[in-house]
Amino acid sequence: MSNLVIAVDGPAGAGKSTIAKLIASKLNIIYIDTGAMYRALTYKLINENIDLKDISKIIDVLKDTEIDFKNNHIYLDGKIVDDKIRTNDISNNVSIVARIKEVREKLVNIQRKISKNNDVIMDGRDIASHVLPDANLKFYINATPKERGKRRYEEIIKRDPSVSLSDIIQEVKVRDEIDSTREISPLIKTKDAIEIDTTDKSIEEVVQVLLDYIKDNIN
Ligand code: DC
Repeated sequence: MSNLVIAVDGPAGAGKSTIAKLIASKLNIIYIDTGAMYRALTYKLINENIDLKDISKIIDVLKDTEIDFKNNHIYLDGKIVDDKIRTNDISNNVSIVARIKEVREKLVNIQRKISKNNDVIMDGRDIASHVLPDANLKFYINATPKERGKRRYEEIIKRDPSVSLSDIIQEVKVRDEIDSTREISPLIKTKDAIEIDTTDKSIEEVVQVLLDYIKDNIN
């Protein structure tokens, strides 16, 4: 592999996207947010009132759906949907959509295509284990469920003052459970991944830790 490929995995709210985006801009490489792809499809399904238990209907919609991630924007059927995919409703339903085999196959193909000829940092749940097993470097970013819930709460409360911290921590735990126990490509820390606990660290500290690893391991 001649291009630089960095995989970043971890549970919801661990700080993966923020960190990966900063690393991408510092190294001038492409950032790919795979969670945004699953969110974009979930947004479309909810918007079209599709029953999320109706897997064959979801597969039908999927066939007619174009998803892409470029220049730090998520595109759904040619339109940027960056803000629309971050609602609590989508966060609470995306794991149901992300466990469908056909959904994963289609999105993983897109993810692999983007990383084929580009220097990339890609974040998600199955990047090191499945999407890019030959990545040059693999990071597993983690934090306690309480801390991850707190971070999500601080984000959501700005838009919805009615949310409670305990509910958000509970939702984070439910999502962890679905993401790490699903049959296809569950969230796991691969043996060759470097684990970083961000619970008591600032974003800048974590970014520096990753940059040091990258500098030491990539020539
Ligand atoms: O990183 P995020 O919270 O935006 O991800 C949203 C959901 O998408 C997450 O709960 C599980 C799913 N996901 C996945 O199954 N595989 C990935 N590579 C990325 C996200």
